[in-house]
Amino acid sequence: MKEALYESIRPLLFRCDAEKVHHVAMTAIAKGFMRGTPYSNPCLEKTLFGVTFPNPVGLAAGFDKDGLALNHWQSFGFGFIEVGTVTRHPQPGNPKPRLFRLPEHKAVINRMGFNNAGADALLARLQSAQPGIPLGINIGKSKITPLEEAHEDYSYSFRLLLEHGDYFAINVSSPNTEGLRSLQDRESLTKIISEIKTIDDTKSLFVKIAPDLTESALDEILQVASDLQLTGLIATNTTISRDMLPTDPQIQGGLSGAPVKEKSLAVLKYLKSNAPPSLHLIGVGGILNPLDAQERLESGADLIQIYSGWIYNRPSFPAEIARHLAEHSLPKSVN
Ligand SMILES: Cc1cc2nc3c(=O)[nH]c(=O)nc-3n(C[C@H](O)[C@H](O)[C@H](O)COP(=O)(O)O)c2cc1C
Repeated sequence: MKEALYESIRPLLFRCDAEKVHHVAMTAIAKGFMRGTPYSNPCLEKTLFGVTFPNPVGLAAGFDKDGLALNHWQSFGFGFIEVGTVTRHPQPGNPKPRLFRLPEHKAVINRMGFNNAGADALLARLQSAQPGIPLGINIGKSKITPLEEAHEDYSYSFRLLLEHGDYFAINVSSPNTEGLRSLQDRESLTKIISEIKTIDDTKSLFVKIAPDLTESALDEILQVASDLQLTGLIATNTTISRDMLPTDPQIQGGLSGAPVKEKSLAVLKYLKSNAPPSLHLIGVGGILNPLDAQERLESGADLIQIYSGWIYNRPSFPAEIARHLAEHSLPKSVN
């Protein structure tokens, strides 16, 4: 689909149910009907934790939960993708409607609840995929699994998908699975990561955290990261706060897009100031234009991810960010 055509039908799309539009877009991308603009520039290439990224702009978790379009993201100019959140058990997620746009705020609220076809189904797709760019796999806890047994869910998906991910993201920050965010506390997180490390302690591991944590909670996470030699942290998931909106829209779920920008940036800056230089940081939350992306990288992110910003921009948005970064040549990092 041509950019101009997309621009002309966008107002129409915004009048339709958000989840249906997402489904149609995903189908069009997976079948190759909708394409972006690939962008490559060797000055953006960087090698981090042994993985070479053609550029630092990634697709955030939740967009392609089931890995339906694995071979197509590179053509949009992405430098990496994160599939999932995938859970041990397939599950339908929360009742619909569960995805809402707030265009006047360039925001999205979702309470999808990890709707996904399960880790086994993702394995089958990964086995025949050739994404052409680094791939992260984001894993979470199934709704039916009690919190005390969460580590078993994470371990199951990790073991099954191990050889297919350039890194794994342990998602303990979605607000849409009851109690999940309590797994960010020191004891629970230690249990999950230790278990995973008994399966393989060479795989690069990230923990994805919420933007709503206090500094002392962030300190605890940094301590766990250092004790267990995590590769890095992904900051951040969606927020449960509505403070950044002039009025509370009274829609339950995680808020993303422009209103989460300041919180996500503040968390990233805090982590950068307090983490050892060896800890890698992926910045996500409220990146709505190329300058936001540049600011996130200049504030300490090694890589960035986008989700809501893509909804409010053209399909070529990832490539536009990459081009901007190349033109404002960021220092290369190899570590
Ligand atoms: C509809 C929707 C579904 C999401 N699903 C997931 C998910 O399954 N796992 C996850 O870690 N994050 C998920 N996220 C959070 C995003 O990956 C990202 O962290 C968050 O939206 C902030 O970035 P943004 O402001 O660019 O959207 C989802 C976000 C949205 C809007």
